[in-house]
Amino acid sequence: MDATSLILLSLFLLIIIVGVVVAVVVYAKSTPDVPVQSLGNTSTTSSTGNTSVQTQNQSTGTAGSDGEGGGDDDSGIDGEGGGDDGAGGNGSIVGIDPSVKLCTSSGTKNISDTIIVESGETYDGKCQTIVPSGAMGDGSQAEDQKPYFKLYPGGTIKNVILSANGLDGIWFVSKSTSKSDTWTLNNVTWTDVGEDACSFREEARDGTLNLVNCSMSKAKDKSIQAGNSFVGTINLVNTHMFDNYQTFRVGVEPQTYRATNCELKGTNLIYGGAYQGPCNGVAKFEFTSCKLGGGIHKLCDPAKQVKYTNCEGP
Ligand SMILES: *[C@@H]1O[C@H](CO)[C@@H](O)[C@H](O)[C@H]1NC(C)=O
Ligand SMILES: *[C@@H]1O[C@H](CO)[C@@H](O)[C@H](O)[C@H]1NC(C)=O
Ligand SMILES: *[C@@H]1O[C@H](CO)[C@@H](O)[C@H](O)[C@H]1NC(C)=O
Ligand SMILES: *[C@@H]1O[C@H](CO)[C@@H](O)[C@H](O)[C@H]1NC(C)=O
Ligand SMILES: *[C@@H]1O[C@H](CO)[C@@H](O)[C@H](O)[C@H]1NC(C)=O
Ligand SMILES: *[C@@H]1O[C@H](CO)[C@@H](O)[C@H](O)[C@H]1NC(C)=O
Ligand SMILES: *[C@@H]1O[C@H](CO)[C@@H](O)[C@H](O)[C@H]1NC(C)=O
Repeated sequence: MDATSLILLSLFLLIIIVGVVVAVVVYAKSTPDVPVQSLGNTSTTSSTGNTSVQTQNQSTGTAGSDGEGGGDDDSGIDGEGGGDDGAGGNGSIVGIDPSVKLCTSSGTKNISDTIIVESGETYDGKCQTIVPSGAMGDGSQAEDQKPYFKLYPGGTIKNVILSANGLDGIWFVSKSTSKSDTWTLNNVTWTDVGEDACSFREEARDGTLNLVNCSMSKAKDKSIQAGNSFVGTINLVNTHMFDNYQTFRVGVEPQTYRATNCELKGTNLIYGGAYQGPCNGVAKFEFTSCKLGGGIHKLCDPAKQVKYTNCEGP
């Protein structure tokens, strides 16, 4: 009795298991068939399978930031903020694109006053190291120093090395507040940041600062000082930020910091809100294809304010 009923019971269970497996397989096969059939219905409209929309969606990655400031005049730079592969066309590279070479000094240019670059002008420093007179400042944290440059919207500074003095760096200025203000630097090296590297002055309260192919080192205090008055976007592309005490000094206004193919090494503190104070909840940081080394902290609420895409570290 025991042996026979055990065999019968086993057979019965086996049949049930096989039945369930077959049913699952049949169901699994038939499920994806449904949309395929409805798409391919009558074969004429099979091209309705709008696959291109899905492909675009998948590759978007760092969504929708192109609209910023509408700066048509800075050809291609706005576009670099948009997606993973927008930054110089080398989205797969993490860190600085190895094809980007910065200046090695071609000599010295002595200045005794700030160089003013007007709207629409391009200042080409030809890789000379710009050395200020002592009267312009000493690169300490004293507030009344002059900058090397004042750059008006639509202007560009390129191929420049700022001496180890540092002064008060570069001022981004404007005659009236405008969302479409755009300032561009390419191939600029701060050897040793002085009071600040970058600050916004006069009516420069909105717009876009593009730091492309730049290097900024050794800020004892702040390197990018957007402070409490600037509400725009700061893009860094192929840019080194090494050993800067406060890399990004955000204020109480909404600001967007977008770094693509960047490298941060050493101390690079990122504060929000008041000095070493709590985060303000309005600044946004987006790091794409960056190498983030060293002591990056005080990043506010990472889940809300910082987005990392294809980055290494910290
Ligand atoms: C197939 O096409 C016909 C007519 O074009 C339509 O009425 C029917 O709903 C379609 N069937 C499916 C499954 O889409
Ligand atoms: C695909 O979708 C776009 C946008 O929705 C539409 O304009 C286009 O006609 C569609 N293509 C086809 C083949 O249905
Ligand atoms: C694209 O992605 C967005 C956000 O993830 C989503 O809301 C939208 O439905 C997607 N569109 C398509 C066509 O997949
Ligand atoms: C992309 O990277 C490759 C290999 O490093 C380099 O040869 C090329 O110039 C880069 N392209 C751009 C647009 O930077
Ligand atoms: C940055 O450097 C790359 C490589 O030299 C160059 O192709 C690109 O135009 C530079 N970007 C700007 C804004 O000048
Ligand atoms: C910087 O300027 C030097 C000298 O002209 C040049 O060799 C180098 O390619 C430039 N780098 C970029 C990124 O423009
Ligand atoms: C710049 O100034 C230094 C010292 O003040 C001087 O030695 C040097 O010759 C000057 N360079 C140029 C290009 O005038």
